[in-house]
Parts: sequence; structure tokens; C-alpha cells
Amino acid sequence: MTTTTASERAKSPTGRERFFREDEIIVSKTDPSGKLVYANEVFLTIAGYTEREVLGQPHSMIRHPDMPRGVFALLWETIASGSEIFAYVVNLAKNGDHYWVFAHVTPTFGPTGEIVGYHSSRRVPSASALRTIIPLYAEMSAVERAQPSKREAVLASRALLDRKLEALGVAYDELMFALETGKEA
Ligand SMILES: Cc1cc2nc3c(=O)[nH]c(=O)nc-3n(C[C@H](O)[C@H](O)[C@H](O)COP(=O)(O)O)c2cc1C
Repeated sequence: MTTTTASERAKSPTGRERFFREDEIIVSKTDPSGKLVYANEVFLTIAGYTEREVLGQPHSMIRHPDMPRGVFALLWETIASGSEIFAYVVNLAKNGDHYWVFAHVTPTFGPTGEIVGYHSSRRVPSASALRTIIPLYAEMSAVERAQPSKREAVLASRALLDRKLEALGVAYDELMFALETGKEA
């Protein structure tokens, strides 16, 4: 069995989309630093990896370059503070194909209330939600690319997201809920 090297993971997107079924849930668990400690069969199948290739690897191994840094910054800020978050995420399979998910990420607490890891369950996102999310993420990414550093990229795209939410008069959670419940038949 070969191990996954950084160069194997750094594949470029093919532009081909993969799909999973409405009745499937993609599940993974991480340690507090975001390294994978569990991935279910659906995860492995759609991402195109074996269990051996993913366990112990940072979750960013399936990061898609189109995902704005600001979304992951919000995700980490929220879960590390002990709260749950919902987020639309596009991921990269081992061969460069991509797949969209609607993720619910939660912290797992130990007996004394400390965070011992994180858990993510992902379902098929609604098509109507993606019609809002894809252009929003493209705008966030464009703003990020125009910044001189990763730190400024995060600040700028978070500020953009905040302005959008303010204009809509909703909090981030409310937007996620509205997008997903506006699900097309
Ligand atoms: C439980 C959990 C699940 C995650 N799921 C994903 C995921 O499906 N795709 C992804 O790109 N990042 C996911 N992340 C976020 C990654 O840890 C990382 O922040 C992200 O890929 C950005 O990586 P980068 O900062 O190296 O660009 C998850 C993190 C946690 C804690």
C-alpha cells in the first residue's frame, strides 16, 4: 500500500462534478487540529481515497481552490468557540473532480467540557441554494486574490460576507437556513 504524498494531493480540478444520493450522508471526524480520525464509506467513495490514505491527514486534503478562505475562517472560529455551523462546501476528489455538499460541523466535547474533536455530516445541497452560493463564493475569492496576504484575504472576504448579510438583514445561520429550506422540489 502506497502512502498519499503532498504532490498526489495537489491535483488540479478537472471541472467534472460528482454527485451523491439524497439518502446518503458524507461523514468525517477530526481531532482538535483538523486531522481526520474517521471517514465513512460515502466519504471515501466520493472523494476517491482509501481509509488508509485519509486517516491522520489534515482535512484540507480535499480542499478545492474555489473555496474562499473566509468561509473556513468562519467555520473554525465558530466550532473552536464550541458552536455548530452549517456551510456549503465544494470539495476536490483525489482525481480532481469536485462535489458540492451542505455540511453541518459540530464540536465534540470531553468529560470536562473541553473540545476533543470535530464531526461533520454532509448532505446533498439544494440546487437553488447553490445558485446563490456559487456567485457569492466567486466574489469572495476574487476579493481574496486581490489581497497581499492570507490574513488580509480572510479579513476582506469576511467583510464582504458581513456586508452581504447586513444588506439582506439576516445573520449567517439564518441565510443558511433560508437557502436550504427554499429547496427546489
Ligand atoms: C470536522 C471538519 C470537517 C471539515 N471538512 C472540510 C471539507 O469537507 N473540506 C474542506 O476543504 N475543509 C474542511 N474542513 C476545514 C479544513 O480543516 C481546512 O480549514 C480547510 O480545508 C482550509 O484549509 P487551508 O487553511 O489549508 O486552506 C473541515 C474541518 C473540520 C474540523
